[in-house]
Amino acid sequence: MGNLLVRPMSLTDLDAVVEIESANYQFPWTRGHFADSLNAGYIAMCLVVDQRVQGYCILMRVLDEAHLLNISIRTSEQNRGWGSFLLDWCCAHLRAQNCSGLLLEVRPSNEAARHIYERFGFRLVGVRKGYYPAVVGREDALVLFKSFDELTQAVDTGKPMGSS
Ligand SMILES: CC(C)(COP(=O)(O)OP(=O)(O)OC[C@H]1O[C@@H](n2cnc3c(N)ncnc32)[C@H](O)[C@@H]1OP(=O)(O)O)[C@@H](O)C(=O)NCCC(=O)NCCS
Repeated sequence: MGNLLVRPMSLTDLDAVVEIESANYQFPWTRGHFADSLNAGYIAMCLVVDQRVQGYCILMRVLDEAHLLNISIRTSEQNRGWGSFLLDWCCAHLRAQNCSGLLLEVRPSNEAARHIYERFGFRLVGVRKGYYPAVVGREDALVLFKSFDELTQAVDTGKPMGSS
C-alpha cells in the first residue's frame, strides 16, 4: 500500500486536489470551493501516499454530527483500498471527537461509493429530490447516515451489543 499518511489540507495542496477533483466528477468543486472550506475551518484532510497527494476528504462538523462533503481518490489509484482507508480515518477521528454520527449524500448512479458506504454500515435515511446537476436534468441524492452510537447500531442491526 505504500507509505500512507492522512494530514491536514493546506492551500499549497490545491493544485493536486483540483486536478483529482476535475478528473473524478462531471460537476467538480472549484478551487474556490476548497479554499472556502479551508477558510470555514472544515476538517479538510489529504491522503498522502509516498509523498504524493492521492486523495482528500472534507468534513463539516455541525453540533454533535458531521457531514461528509467530499471524498475522492485519484482516478488512476482507485480500487486499492485508499478510499476505505480514508473513510475509516474519518470515522475514527469523529468518534474520538465524541461525534455521534456521519451524514452524507451520494448519487444513486455512484455504485462504487455506495458499495463502500454500505460496507461501512451507512443506512439510507432519506432522498433529496433533484439535488445534483446532471447532463440531462437533475439527479436525486441518497442521504446516508452512520451512527457512532453503539446502542443505536445494535438496535439497527438487530444484533446484541458485543456480537460481530
Ligand atoms: C468512492 C471512492 C472514494 C472510493 O475510493 P477507492 O480508493 O476506489 O475505494 P476502495 O479501493 O477502498 O474500495 C472500492 C470498493 O468499491 C468496489 N467497486 C468499485 N467499482 C464498483 C462498481 N462499479 N460497483 C460496485 N462496487 C464497485 C470495489 O470492489 C471495492 O470494494 P471492496 O473493497 O469491497 O472489494 C473513489 O471511487 C472515488 O474517488 N470516486 C470518485 C469521487 C466520488 O464519487 N466520491 C464519493 C462521492 S459521494
